[in-house]
Amino acid sequence: MPKIIVAIDGYSSCGKSSTAKLVARQLNYPYIDTGSMYRAVTLYFIQNHVSPTNPKEVEKALQDIHISFRRQDDEGKNETYLNGLNVETEIRKMYIAEKVSDVAALVQVRHAMVAQQQQMGREKGVVMDGRDIGTVVFPEAELKIFMTADPLVRAQRRQLELMEKGELIGIEEIAENLKKRDYIDTHRAEGPLRQAEDAFYLDNSFITLEEQVDLVVRLADEQI
Ligand code: C5P
Repeated sequence: MPKIIVAIDGYSSCGKSSTAKLVARQLNYPYIDTGSMYRAVTLYFIQNHVSPTNPKEVEKALQDIHISFRRQDDEGKNETYLNGLNVETEIRKMYIAEKVSDVAALVQVRHAMVAQQQQMGREKGVVMDGRDIGTVVFPEAELKIFMTADPLVRAQRRQLELMEKGELIGIEEIAENLKKRDYIDTHRAEGPLRQAEDAFYLDNSFITLEEQVDLVVRLADEQI
């Protein structure tokens, strides 16, 4: 059976990863969460006092950063490792969310991450989510989804997610962070978030996760 690339892009916290994970499981493909790579780079920059405005420091840091994913259980849950250490919990925290879009806007960082992502999907048969997958990483992807949802719905989902991880953050602070990240992500010069011309636009504000997964799997099946 031919393998395809499923590229899912969209705004922050609109359910891309929940959908991508379940679609990947149904297609029996690995799921690659590219946002976690930018989060891991941000964590490294913070821990090692790397100045994002100093290209030499950024270059050196990128040479020292090794990101990998390891499957944790039969559910297909992947966790992110930075230089051999599991950083999955740490990179989901709010202090990372506050800095990640500035780090992800750096050209050197984008080039390094995009090259790794292209390598991971070189044999196809992957579901990858992010902001530039259908436009920059795999412009030839067989299926591209551009996902969005109402800002309040997104903030509520994010609040619940953080709460489940033990972080209690007010809805205004979360909504503000999402707005700021979306602004930086859509306005940066390199690999900005935008809908690819051939992407399927999916607003999931008022549909269930199951409905959304069924739809994406159906669209994928049409391409296989
Ligand atoms: O998907 P997630 O919200 O975890 O991504 C964190 C941040 O990483 C985004 O706000 C965005 O700034 C950046 N990102 C990116 N390109 C990607 C994936 C994520 O710039 N492909």
